[in-house]
Amino acid sequence: TLLLGAEQAGIRLSYGCRQGICQLCRCQKISGVVKNIQTGKLSSHGVESIQTCINIPMTEVILDV
Ligand code: FES
Repeated sequence: TLLLGAEQAGIRLSYGCRQGICQLCRCQKISGVVKNIQTGKLSSHGVESIQTCINIPMTEVILDV
């Protein structure tokens, strides 16, 4: 996920449940496509509010954190 990937890269992001429930990981995606691993839905390419704990990057992704 974006949350795990950031952590592995040494970047600390806000989180709580890590299961898509608490919304504490929600942030603004500036660009790039992500896939929600709970719904399987792909995001748009543009600005969108996403949860980093349940989304995986499908392209290079820029987040406002
Ligand atoms: S950490 Fe709780 S919804 Fe993402």
